[in-house]
Amino acid sequence: MSLLECRGLTKKWGALVAVSKVDIAVSAGEVVALIGPNGAGKSTVFDLIAGTTQKTSGTVAFRNEHVEGLSAAALTRRGMGRTYQITSLFPSLTVLENVRLAVQSCEPRRAYPLFSRLLLERTTEEALKWLHRVRLREHANTLAGLLSHGDQRLTEIAVALAMNPKLLLLDEPTQGMSVEETRGTVELLKSLLKDTDMAVLLVEHDLEVVFGLAHRIVVLDRGRKIADGLPAAVRADPGVQQAYLGAGHVAH
Ligand SMILES: Nc1ncnc2c1ncn2[C@@H]1O[C@H](COP(=O)(O)OP(=O)(O)OP(=O)(O)O)[C@@H](O)[C@H]1O
Ligand SMILES: [Mg+2]
Repeated sequence: MSLLECRGLTKKWGALVAVSKVDIAVSAGEVVALIGPNGAGKSTVFDLIAGTTQKTSGTVAFRNEHVEGLSAAALTRRGMGRTYQITSLFPSLTVLENVRLAVQSCEPRRAYPLFSRLLLERTTEEALKWLHRVRLREHANTLAGLLSHGDQRLTEIAVALAMNPKLLLLDEPTQGMSVEETRGTVELLKSLLKDTDMAVLLVEHDLEVVFGLAHRIVVLDRGRKIADGLPAAVRADPGVQQAYLGAGHVAH
């Protein structure tokens, strides 16, 4: 059984079928990219999985449990982490404080009295560990709002990782990054994923990022799944090429 198993996912907005009978499965340790032309339904699929949009029909099972109707917070507690397409940090808190909040949110409530020195020390240490891993240790005391855009996105990844997800939903992690920042982020994600069984579902327009990271690629076009396979097979698929070219652009 897969870690995440979506069957027949369907979302209608009035007469528009944004997502039509889509099956997606993600196994532990797997990196799956969800790609497709503009308007294909990628963000909608993401929101249906993360529980932020109500589906019309279909099922979502996560860790062998049907999770329809659970809140985003409940899904996080069950091990589904996500980053948002639009930066979601607290800009007037430091980078460390942002990550520490995420660590604290996972602490068992009764382990320490609230605000105890021990809790603070432990969660600070854990947050610094994650900042070190995304190479932002030296920015720990910078206000998040003052970081470069690329470093804000990396901080968001650290925030998501600090909650120890089994599945990480990454929403265009390199959007708005420079070419160098994008390459650095791909390398960083590769190294983060090397020794873990965390799975990743990635929505990404940058095909260099997709082919650099994904073990498997799912292609959507006008709400339907038109391909699902190994990167080389998907790249060579005439239907996929047609979907991109037919939409008037190669993914930007
Ligand atoms: N809240 C909404 N109300 C009505 N229609 C919507 C809504 N959200 C999305 N849609 C429509 O659903 C379809 C799929 O949109 P979605 O945002 O999932 O596509 P996408 O693949 O993420 O596209 P992009 O690459 O541009 O981000 C589009 O036709 C879009 O206009
Ligand atoms: Mg989108």
